[in-house]
Amino acid sequence: MSINLDRATREPIESAGLDELRALQLERLRRSLRHAYENVPYYRKSFAAAGVYPDDLRDLADLARFPFTTKQDLRDHYPFGMFAVPREKLVRIHASSGTTGKPIVVGYTRKDIDLWADLIARTMRAGGARPGDLCHIAYGYGLFTGGLGFHYGAERLGCTVIPMSGGQTEKQIQLIQDFRPRVILVTPSYGLNLIDEMEKQGIDPSGCSLEIGIFGAEPWTDAMRDELEWRLGIQALDTYGLSEVIGPGVAMEYLDTKDGLTVWEDHFYPEIIDPETGAALPDGSPGELVFTSLTKEAMPIVRYRTRDLTRLLPGTGRAMRRMQRLTGRSDDMLIVRGVNVFPSQVEEQILYFKELAPHYQLEVYREGRLDEVRVLVERNAKVPEFSREDKENVEAQLRHRIKAFIGITVEVRIGEPGAIPRSQGKAQRVVDRRRAN
Ligand code: DLL
Repeated sequence: MSINLDRATREPIESAGLDELRALQLERLRRSLRHAYENVPYYRKSFAAAGVYPDDLRDLADLARFPFTTKQDLRDHYPFGMFAVPREKLVRIHASSGTTGKPIVVGYTRKDIDLWADLIARTMRAGGARPGDLCHIAYGYGLFTGGLGFHYGAERLGCTVIPMSGGQTEKQIQLIQDFRPRVILVTPSYGLNLIDEMEKQGIDPSGCSLEIGIFGAEPWTDAMRDELEWRLGIQALDTYGLSEVIGPGVAMEYLDTKDGLTVWEDHFYPEIIDPETGAALPDGSPGELVFTSLTKEAMPIVRYRTRDLTRLLPGTGRAMRRMQRLTGRSDDMLIVRGVNVFPSQVEEQILYFKELAPHYQLEVYREGRLDEVRVLVERNAKVPEFSREDKENVEAQLRHRIKAFIGITVEVRIGEPGAIPRSQGKAQRVVDRRRAN
């Protein structure tokens, strides 16, 4: 059988039992902690400060004794201080920009790039992609891990890659029309922009060649999934990852179950902690996701606090656990008069209205000493222009639903189609005007 056909079948780990998986994790974790300790001065110091050493790990639960690594720790060692191999051994560097300050720099040896390609091939296959498929990659190429990460993995799976990157929206549509890809890889927000652009050009998006969409890199809701699926006539799957851990290729939703993201636990060990106390929580509890890499060479990462909020669920049909669709990042969480709010909760309410387009932003501003939120959203281009009365009516209804379902009072402003800035990658959902006041 050819390599390509082998890759279309399950990998052994996808059929492994729980005991087998845990034994593999323990063995790899021991090795990875030792690798970090022996080769990264930062870990040597942080382990010593916490009074733990790699040999203290007897079973997986002992991981909770090891110190966390935070985004700030990575920033403090900018640019190359977290690497466990000499810089010359790196074959690639990526960086994640974040909103403020210096980027976080990550590096890969040839072996890491190879592993990454394997994991992305697994990811894409889980989502229904097959060798020979034409794949349109609209994640950004460059320092962002999305484009090149999927690129190498799609090639590894045996696909034909269209390395489109983000932007040049009209051209994207032309290539989708002419090349007829089966799979698209794109952020949900940019995916929506592509659909809007097709409609603008008089093309029926549901009639295009695409059958599968692999969406990730930003939070999105099931309501948004429905929208993408029916408008584009595809299966839309959720995919998760972050640069600090490897990039995309950390967790993926299986097409056959579509019930949350299976974490590739044979390479990344997940934990959920209480974001306030740092205590490790049992599976099923909501909290902050923490990852420890098990096999990475250039940049092993120990107990990295992702700031992403989710919960771990038992695997369905596989030993590897699932993570629930992300509620959001703790950084994006707004606290409005004591109520915790994520943009995704507002998205769910917006999508309830067929009069509204799923393009939105939350503006946070300060009125006196209180934080207020203004929801900016657009009229759906497919419904006729509103009379003033209709517009006020929909605004009032959305305000009411947000109050009823989320528990906060907001101002709603509906603009005309195109009023909200469009993303070519990750959408900016929160605009903080508090500092400006
Ligand atoms: O966004 C890697 C990636 C590329 C994932 C393409 C999926 C597809 P970063 O730029 O480092 O890496 O951003 C990582 O994005 O901590 C989450 O907050 C968010 N994120 C990623 N995937 C999802 C998702 C890439 N499926 C940060 N749902 C993460 C919600 C996601 N948020």
